[in-house]
Amino acid sequence: MCGIVGYIGREQAAPILLEGLARLEYRGYDSAGLAVLDGEKGLQVVKAKGRLRELAGRTEGGALVPGAVGVGHTRWATHGAPNDVNSHPQVSQSGRIAVVHNGIIENYARLKAFLEEEGVSFASETDTEVAAQLIGYYYRGDLLQAVGQALNRIEGAYALGIVCADEPDKLVAVRKDSPLILGRGAGFQMLASDVTAMIRYTRDVCYLDDGETAVLTPEGVQIYNAFGRPVEKETVHVDWEISAAEKGGYEHFMFKEIMEQPKAIRDTVSPRIREGRVVLDELELTREDLENLDRLYIIACGSSYHVGMAAKYILEKLLRIPVEVTLASEFRYCTPIVTQRTLALVVSQSGETIDTLAAMREARRLGARIFSIVNVVGSSIARESDGVLYTWAGPEIAVATTKAYSTQLAAVYLLAIRCAELLGRVDQEEYRAMVAGLEALPGQVEEILKDTEKIQYYASIYFNHDSMFFIGRNIDYAVGLEASLKLKEISYIHSEAYAAGELKHGTISLIEDGTLVVALAGWDPLFDKLMSNVREVKARGADVLGVTTRARASAMAQGVDSTISVPDVFPLYLPSVEVVPVQLFAYYVALMRGCDIDKPRNLAKSVTVE
Ligand code: F6R
Repeated sequence: MCGIVGYIGREQAAPILLEGLARLEYRGYDSAGLAVLDGEKGLQVVKAKGRLRELAGRTEGGALVPGAVGVGHTRWATHGAPNDVNSHPQVSQSGRIAVVHNGIIENYARLKAFLEEEGVSFASETDTEVAAQLIGYYYRGDLLQAVGQALNRIEGAYALGIVCADEPDKLVAVRKDSPLILGRGAGFQMLASDVTAMIRYTRDVCYLDDGETAVLTPEGVQIYNAFGRPVEKETVHVDWEISAAEKGGYEHFMFKEIMEQPKAIRDTVSPRIREGRVVLDELELTREDLENLDRLYIIACGSSYHVGMAAKYILEKLLRIPVEVTLASEFRYCTPIVTQRTLALVVSQSGETIDTLAAMREARRLGARIFSIVNVVGSSIARESDGVLYTWAGPEIAVATTKAYSTQLAAVYLLAIRCAELLGRVDQEEYRAMVAGLEALPGQVEEILKDTEKIQYYASIYFNHDSMFFIGRNIDYAVGLEASLKLKEISYIHSEAYAAGELKHGTISLIEDGTLVVALAGWDPLFDKLMSNVREVKARGADVLGVTTRARASAMAQGVDSTISVPDVFPLYLPSVEVVPVQLFAYYVALMRGCDIDKPRNLAKSVTVE
């Protein structure tokens, strides 16, 4: 949700900022801009509505904007329509201070009224301009001091990059509840919302914490805590390759990331299986802890929430512990019943989703212990958890998650096996079967990916539909939720996921001749019941595309129009194989409809506003 980048050094800043923004474009892509300081020209600001290519064109790849200090921004609009004026950077009335911002300034209206009374006039509708103007209002020749004074009055979430024409030797960065990472180099320093924006230049990064302010100069960084005292921060070396964040010959990141799933699952699972046993060194968890639990809350948004839905079925079945899955945006406002005996499992790819972060803090405030499943190392959720199970999906660039979702599932399986062992809920034979099943999973996902043509063919039959339904029972229903989200977010086809038994309580009235119903029927104990629901929709004219295991494929084929079969996996791991064909189906449907697959309209990855 908005990406910011900053550079101070000896090179031309603008091309570096544009390159960084290109890697952050997944965070927002309705407009972009940059501000660069130059000894002769002073502060130059260039902004453009639309994709980053507009800005790159307007600046001839940055060549038209000389200077070695600057900040850049790619926007997902919150306050004011996407246009040149509302794009960032926003500048102070003097035109000498420029600010890029990721987050939301909640009390912006009050601050704006105050500044207007003081004679400040505003150009844009944004909350960010309030930050720029407020810093300008307090500026008396000391940028750091002015920023501090402004922050004392600003409420909300922000990561800010600030430059000032009167202090061209520094770049100031601050954060609260929005991610901000500093990159350390020889003779240059950078800031960005995400490591991917600077990995081409440096792999040595440090993570700013809430309330911290950093002053970057070409030679180094000085960081201050919320009380203005200097703090030392650890520099972390990022060891993944830049190719992980590039398309590598694929037309879309989403397709590349779908194809990377076997590796991502393997990387998540393998280091945690040693001599046939699941070892989770990163979580301090004893049998007593588990026996003491009054409930497990799973807190997440979107696809991560769907992982939580699958986890509920898996964990309750295996552990017999009550599991409540709550949308993070609801958690805070639904008077959750949390005690000292509650464990909250927070699931997030980015580790920065503000709703999830806020819900997690609320759970902690109420007394819960917090474990998380997170993909982005060093992210806020990871850092604030009592234990983190990192997923090793690598950078996920496509807005629609695929490989991160799959690795989150894998992390849930690992946790389930470990807890079942601690509680003595599985005998040795079952335990071995679960571990072996998990080790086999990457290969089974690979098998599905070797044969995508059939799925492409089904997409070609159905891509013109206006509406689709996904039905399933038990964990198939959890997969249906994800399948439906995948389809709607990238193809813009209306779709709904229903627990199959629930259709007849209302929604079946929407089924008519030719409506596509995708029936997920991997969960064997309910196969016959699901097939009864299939008959109900067929009787009302639906076309049914079935997804089931190889063992059930011929039985299913007798009741549906087309069947996709997936390998027979250990039953609790079904979501991992069922999700792959529906991801591919969504991808091909969106492709055939000419949609912008990696950057669907109105969306952004990493939702850092509430
Ligand atoms: C959908 C998708 C989103 C995210 C959601 C939570 O494809 O990616 O629904 O799952 O915004 O994001 P994280 O997992 O980063 O907290």
